[in-house]
Amino acid sequence: MELLIANESHFKYAEIICDTIADSAKTRGTGIAKRTPEYIRKKLENGNAVIALDGTTFAGFCYIEVWGHGKYVANSGLIVHPDYRDRGLAKQIKQRIFDLSGEKFPDAKIFGITTGLAVMKINYELGYKPTTFSELTDDPEFWKGCQTCKNFDILTRTERKMCLCTAMLYDPKAVSKKKTAEEKEKLNTKAFKRLKSIKESLFLKKK
Ligand SMILES: CC(C)(COP(=O)(O)OP(=O)(O)OC[C@H]1O[C@@H](n2cnc3c(N)ncnc32)[C@H](O)[C@@H]1OP(=O)(O)O)[C@@H](O)C(=O)NCCC(=O)NCCS
Repeated sequence: MELLIANESHFKYAEIICDTIADSAKTRGTGIAKRTPEYIRKKLENGNAVIALDGTTFAGFCYIEVWGHGKYVANSGLIVHPDYRDRGLAKQIKQRIFDLSGEKFPDAKIFGITTGLAVMKINYELGYKPTTFSELTDDPEFWKGCQTCKNFDILTRTERKMCLCTAMLYDPKAVSKKKTAEEKEKLNTKAFKRLKSIKESLFLKKK
């Protein structure tokens, strides 16, 4: 398995990346911001993405988005192909894109919003902390991305204060040194599962 900083030579993977993201969201029944192959190709072209390849077979992907004129970056669109899950690949991809974000945008805060427990766990171990939506970028283009998510009405109803996603933020200024494997804290998954179910019962309309 190779983890590469993507470039134009990976344009041929743009469709499978989009299809795998869309299929996984359908299977999970969760909301997701839709991505087009053209958008993915831009990320590949700018060197703002990491792709995992097993020989020439697509295995995983994640990209960097820049918001608020470089004050914030997000590591988005994490996807591991179903054939390559549960062997630590997402963790490796996230570490690689996190390191790349730090190299390219050393002063930027790194954030993400997600409903996925796996992503929360990985982010937490990287040093992200859960936070409120008000601490994230107010760049309207970022929030526009949520329009294609099926839960967008919740975000609108709460005036962008909360949604089913949890916000997580890494502030490079608040972190004094890189944590060793032993020092890395584990996410309290029980608390997050509980929080998610409370939010679902509050916000999702009963059928
Ligand atoms: C979520 C996803 C990226 C995980 O990929 P993966 O390569 O299987 O993940 P890893 O093997 O690196 O696992 C990382 C951690 O998450 C946990 N994890 C993995 N899948 C999980 C799941 N569905 N639910 C809860 N925890 C999960 C693992 O146990 C591991 O935890 P540990 O460090 O305590 O052992 C993959 O399932 C996927 O692409 N899903 C669809 C897209 C998606 O949900 N993207 C995130 C959108 S925000």
